[in-house]
Formats: sequence, structure tokens, C-alpha cells
Amino acid sequence: MSKISITIFGGTGDLTYRKLMPAIYNLFSRNLLGENFKVCAIGRRDYSNEEYLEIIDSWIKEFARLKIKEERLLEFYKHIEYYKMDFTNLDEYSGLNKFYENTSFDNNLVYYAVSPSFFEVISDGMLRVNNLKNPKIILEKPFGSSMKNAKFLSEKLDKNFNSENIYRIDHYLGKEMVRNILTIRETNPLISKVWSKDDIESIEITALETVGVETRGNYYDEAGALKDMVQNHLLQILTIVALDNPNGVLADEQLDVLKNLRPIEKMDIKKSVVLGQYKGYRQEDKVNPSSSTETFAGIKLFVDNKRWKNVPFFIKTGKKTSEREIEVLVKFKRIKDDINPNVLVIKIQPTEGVYLEFNIKTPGEDGITTAKMEFCQNCNLIFRLNTPEAYERMILACIENDSSWFSKWEQIELSWKFIDELKQAYIKNNIPIYEYEVGSDGPVEYNLIK
Ligand code: BG6
Repeated sequence: MSKISITIFGGTGDLTYRKLMPAIYNLFSRNLLGENFKVCAIGRRDYSNEEYLEIIDSWIKEFARLKIKEERLLEFYKHIEYYKMDFTNLDEYSGLNKFYENTSFDNNLVYYAVSPSFFEVISDGMLRVNNLKNPKIILEKPFGSSMKNAKFLSEKLDKNFNSENIYRIDHYLGKEMVRNILTIRETNPLISKVWSKDDIESIEITALETVGVETRGNYYDEAGALKDMVQNHLLQILTIVALDNPNGVLADEQLDVLKNLRPIEKMDIKKSVVLGQYKGYRQEDKVNPSSSTETFAGIKLFVDNKRWKNVPFFIKTGKKTSEREIEVLVKFKRIKDDINPNVLVIKIQPTEGVYLEFNIKTPGEDGITTAKMEFCQNCNLIFRLNTPEAYERMILACIENDSSWFSKWEQIELSWKFIDELKQAYIKNNIPIYEYEVGSDGPVEYNLIK
């Protein structure tokens, strides 16, 4: 088995605590990391190794998918080291070499779990870490802060590292039900035969969260919902739903959909986009008190190709809404005005499953009524226990050199182009950022574009 090292920049960040450490623990519990692996968590805070382990202990216990066995956990901790360094200072990088000098690690992951504004300096710093051979660089989203900036970073990474070793992660592609969209499309003639403008009236892709910006005010206030969720997660789901050939090469198929997105200049922005901000956002920690950053985005867009001509795709995402819900809702065309349409919902989170509405004769009477059928996948304990978390799956894929579910540069570039132009058009048209109540469904103005 290869000797694995995982170096994490952003070792004291929310992402590492909440997602990465529990995911790495899960992989360890599944015996997938070997005996010689090492995790080096890098942060600026002045923690001793013991203090750091004490902190991650409670996060792992709360968030690890697999049952915690105390002995196993203590074993796991022997492989974790905390290293205090200022990663904006290039001179400090050579100090990292000592972590890798006694073992010849041959499968080296370097996770940039930090804001994209640090990607450049870390990439330069890593050139000074000679003991880490052929590193695989995992870049957390968003990749860059605009198309221009993303392009600059992409060139820098290609220059400093082997381009095959660059893994641009979008953890939504590690979610079980996002992957299931392709299987559901591919294996059910009942669905695949009607997957086009001829039978579908509209598609809604929703990602709502009850949480706000939590401890990430700094980053989020720069990003907003468009860059934090739409440019990546939601366009990823949209391209999977809309791609032509579920058996084709995923990245190529997704790219094809992005190329066919209706250009912003052909969209009526006022009738296509609504941005909102939840009440109280400006009082959040590390948020500008006069911020105009959006915490909600609702967009109506079109994929102008043969399959999807004139079918509206609605994308909706928001923080501090009434419920947590990530799903794809497909509304089919009615066969008659007075008969309800078929509806298919692929539920991604928190429920994982499939929901279907179809028509039957009203039992015992002559009318027509709608029957509702629901399959809840994560209600089944065995299914739940056997389903890796998104980050667990993506980190394992990187260990195994499987880049098929990571984004290619061209996808990132086109998604940025779309988001940059959309934002500019929104501002140019003087459309306000609508305020919405915490615990609501977002700004009421969204209903006007639907
Ligand atoms: C992250 C965003 O990528 O995804 C967060 O930066 C968001 O703002 C999170 O809360 C949602 O991920 P999940 O897996 O909890 O749906």
C-alpha cells in the first residue's frame, strides 16, 4: 500500500473541523489509509499538538459517519500533527520539510482548505517543500473570485505542479444522490424516454439552508450566494440533470451544457434574477455593516440546445430560510389542463430519496386523483451506514488518482463567465438586493420570476 500524507492548509478552519477530519477518520476506520499515513494540519494559531487534538476530538465525535471506537480514535491521533505557521510567509515553508523526512511518502495530498485569495502564495510556498514528492493539490471551491482571477490561478498552478495532479473539488459531486441522478436517468426507460423539452415543463434545482454565515463572515461577505453556491454546486447539479449522454465522459458532457447556457445578453435580467439578503446579515460577525452581499439567489435560465429548447430551469439557493432542502424537482407537461402533471423529485439532502406524483382513478369513484410515492434511501440504516460522506468519497478518489468527478478547468471558466456577467447585468440594471425574513422562503420577489 502506498504511504499517504495529507497536508491541510486551513487546519483550524470550519471546513477542516466539520468535514475533513471526520472524513479522514472515516477512511482510517475503513482501513483505507494504511499504517504509515500522516496528516499535517497547518494553522496560524498557537496550539500544541495536544491542544489541537483536543479540539478536533469533539468535532470528529459529532460529525464522523462511522461509530467512534475510543481505542481506534486514539490510534488515529498518532497520525495527526499540528504545525503552526504563517502560510502567507514564503520563508516559513521550508520548515514543513521536517514532517516528511523520515518516511518516504509516495501519495501526497495537499488540501487548500482556505479562501482562494491564498491559493497563489501557498502554490509558491509548496515549491520550497522538497520532501513532498509529486504533490496532488486539492483546491476547495470557489476556485478564484472571478473568471480573471481563476484564470490567473489556473496558470500559476499549471506552472508549479503537474496539471494531472490538480484536483478542483466540488463536494456536491461526492453526494450520493447527486451521483444517483445519472443512474436514475440512465437505467429507467420510464424516465430517460421523457427527459427532454417534449415532456418536461420545467426543472427546479433548490439548495436552501437554515444556517447563516456562522463563523465565515469574512469569506462570505466577499463571495455571496452566487459565487459560494451557484457558480459551483448548483451549476454542477444543473449540468448533470441536463447533460445529453449519462454514459459519456462526465466533464465533457457537463461542459457541453455550460456552452449552451443562454448568454446573459439574451436574458431579460429583471425577469430572470432575484437576489436577496436575510434580515440581520449586516450585524453578523466580520460582515460589513453596509454590505450588499446576497445571501439568496433565484435565477431562471435556459439551456439552448435541441433537448432543452425553452424549458426553464429555476435555480434557488439561500441561507437562513425556513428549512434545509436540496433537491431537483422535475415537472412534466400536463396531458390536459384539468389533469395534474407528473412530478419527480430527486431529494439530495437532508432526505436522500425519490418522490413521484402520478395520476390514478379516484378509488371507488369516476374522478382522477394524484397518487404520491416516496422512496427514502437514508431512512434505511444499512444504506445509511454504507454511504460515504461527500468529502470522504472525494478524498479517497484523490488518493486513488481518480479525477473523473473533479472539475476540469474549462467548466470552471465557463461557470465563472456566466456568474460574472450575470452579476454585472444585475448591477447595471439597478435591481435591488431584496431583504427577506429569517425563516422565510427568501424574498417574495422571487415568485415574480417563476
Ligand atoms: C459550501 C458553502 O460549499 O457548501 C457553504 O461554502 C454551504 O456556504 C455548504 O453551507 C453546503 O454544503 P452541504 O454539504 O452542507 O450542503
